[in-house]
Order: sequence, then C-alpha cells, then structure tokens
Amino acid sequence: TKRPILIQGPMPIEAETFAERLENVTIEESGSTYEFYIGTVDGYPVIVSKTGKGMENAAASTAIAIEKYNPAAIINQGTSGGHDPELNVFDIVLGERTVNIGSMKTGDRAAGEGIEPTEWKPMDVMASEGSAGEDPNAEKARYYEGDADLLAAAKAVKDSYTKGKIVEGTIGSADLWNNEVDRIKWFHENYGTSVEEMESASVAMISKAYDVPFLAIRVLSNNKTNDGAYNADTAIANQEYVYEVVKEYISFL
Ligand code: 5AD
Repeated sequence: TKRPILIQGPMPIEAETFAERLENVTIEESGSTYEFYIGTVDGYPVIVSKTGKGMENAAASTAIAIEKYNPAAIINQGTSGGHDPELNVFDIVLGERTVNIGSMKTGDRAAGEGIEPTEWKPMDVMASEGSAGEDPNAEKARYYEGDADLLAAAKAVKDSYTKGKIVEGTIGSADLWNNEVDRIKWFHENYGTSVEEMESASVAMISKAYDVPFLAIRVLSNNKTNDGAYNADTAIANQEYVYEVVKEYISFL
C-alpha cells in the first residue's frame, strides 16, 4: 500500500477547501482538536489534517499523524503575516527554510535593570542534550530546510497561481502575532524572515525527528510592513495552489 501525503491546515478555513477536493473521504479524530480527512487525489492516498493553531497543536498533530498514518511527505500550509515589504497579500512563500522565532534567551539583567528584547538571542533547543541556557553552542537559530523534491514540485506549478507571486523564502514560526513594525523589521534583518505564522517550524522539527520530507507553503493574509490588510480569502487561494502542488508531486511517485 502507498504511504499517504499529509496536508496540514491550522484553521477550518485553511483545511476545508482542500478536504472538499478529496475523493473517497472518511474522517478520523484524535482527541477533541485533531481531525484527519482521509481520502485520495487522482487515486493516490492524501490526508488533510486540521491541526488547530499554534506550535503545540502543530507538533502534536504531526506526531500523531506520523505514528498513525506513516506519511511519505508533509506539507504545512495556511496564512501568514508579511515581514518583507516586497511581499503583498495573496503572494505565497515556499519555505526554503523554517525557523522558530519564539525560541530565545534573554540578556543578563539584574533586578531593576529592565527588559531589552532587542538584545535577546536566538536559542536552539536541539543544539545538545544539555542545558540550552548554559550551552554557548545553543545561542543560534536552527533553520530547517524545505525538502528539495517538494520544493521542485511547488516550483513546477507556479504558473497555475494567478492571484500573486510565488517566492522561496524563510518562514518564522512562534505563538506570537507581531504588530510592531520595528520588531517585524528586526526579525526580517536578524533571522531573514519573509513571513511569520504559528506552525511550520514546529512541524519541521517533528518531521525531521522522523525523517519525513517536509515543506511549508504559506500565503500572506496580511502584511504590516506595507499596510496589507488582512484577507481571509487568501487561505482558500493557497489551498487551490497546494492542490496543484500535490498533483504534481504524486505524479512522480
Ligand atoms: N502572525 C502570526 N500568525 C499569523 N497567521 C496569519 N497571519 C499571522 C501573523 N501576522 C496564522 C497563524 C495562525 C493563525 C492566527 O493565522 O499561523 O494559525
């Protein structure tokens, strides 16, 4: 039997458009949050996973899906907020890299010396099995590479998407919604982020732990840096594009 492709979306509007396109669907649940639409695309097994929002839900639903369904590849897709002023609402970022932008170590400041976020350093919890707080090697961001074959499939069907441009970039994840433009600029400059959202780097970490090919595909639903107003329709547009990516990818399997 063929190993399925797993397509994740955090919110209902980020999963249901794709789920509706599946053939022969059955629905399975884990707990009260994680829903799996198990079906096929062009006869090939594909599972759409509604993960819920945030890093914990993303990680849990990924581990559950890998243990239960043994996917051949995972695509995490959905909306995001722009960090790059060159990107507009409806543009799509292919996650050449993902990085956890909430994993940080603060500077050393005694009582009364205040809080200084711009001096916080990235922290890599996977640097060693020792204390991330004490290990100088942990003072760096960990970037997860998007899978080359998934990326190639995504690029091959770029022209099917007409609502914006498609670029490769760095997707920053954390349970965080930044509305301070200077802070967004700080991430853009220090981590090279194109967009932010709340799931992809978490899924990348778990996918790597199980050696499952992974790619994040994120549409901009908003961009504070160029006054790009939030548009929920971007979630649907992204799923339509990801559907084309999946068809392309499975045509080689
Ligand atoms: N910042 C953080 N998360 C965002 N999302 C969309 N835009 C942003 C943003 N500017 C996504 C997250 C989460 C939900 C709130 O939407 O991934 O699932």
